[in-house]
Amino acid sequence: MYPIVRKEILSASVKLFDLKAPLVAAKAKAGQFFILRADEKGERIPLTIADFDREQGTITAIFQEIGAGTRLLGQLEVGDAVLDVVGPLGVPSEIERFDGPVVVVGGGVGIAPIYPIARALKEAGNRVISIIGARNRELLFWEDKMAAVSDALIVCTDDGSYGRKGFVTDALKEFYEANGDLQRVWAIGPMPMMRAIANTTRPMGVHTIVSMNPLMMDGTGMCGACRVLVGGETKFACVDGPEFDGHLVDFDLALKRLAIYRDEEKRALAALEH
Ligand code: FES
Repeated sequence: MYPIVRKEILSASVKLFDLKAPLVAAKAKAGQFFILRADEKGERIPLTIADFDREQGTITAIFQEIGAGTRLLGQLEVGDAVLDVVGPLGVPSEIERFDGPVVVVGGGVGIAPIYPIARALKEAGNRVISIIGARNRELLFWEDKMAAVSDALIVCTDDGSYGRKGFVTDALKEFYEANGDLQRVWAIGPMPMMRAIANTTRPMGVHTIVSMNPLMMDGTGMCGACRVLVGGETKFACVDGPEFDGHLVDFDLALKRLAIYRDEEKRALAALEH
């Protein structure tokens, strides 16, 4: 069993757990994920590693209660334990030292997985510009943690309730226009946001990495749910990713697949409520 040692409510639907999982924490790298199962009847929930502490032997999971499984998970408290944690899984982010600034973009709950990437880039000696955004102030979190690993942090809200008003794409465009130099972009967030970022950086010719996390179901390479077309080739987000070249991902197809899951999730949630 894997005890929950800390729980935090980050926003109305986003929760944080620190789980005691020393073996996973010992090997975790930015960009990877793990699969959690609350109990024997619980579904397998793939979650990106939002943080890890090798000394404490803990990993941090941040999840949005969007489906039946995550809603049940959110009801657990400190002192409860989850049945199993498998990981770290997936290919770690390719972290290196670049000759100019790198930008990381986290949208909504995507701020969680972008954090360890920003930290690893900073530790590798990069000039890290972070852009985080959400629909409104209530949905933002980890501004302090992001600031601590960034040379500059730009915070945006769609409704202007905090930071600058507007989308993360506008902030990225402005940074590029002011600096002209941009070596790499990482973007994690809702699929339409990642597509918008990829479309913004394509004419700039800036290599852009996105995470196809939202497509994952069982995370084992068995269900095929996370199939994604990358440069005309079929890849599995859970085995070959979750990170891919944003300019090569077929976002239209990925968004269609996501819409199918949402309908299924709605049915599962309705069953839970009756
Ligand atoms: Fe099932 Fe990748 S999530 S195959």
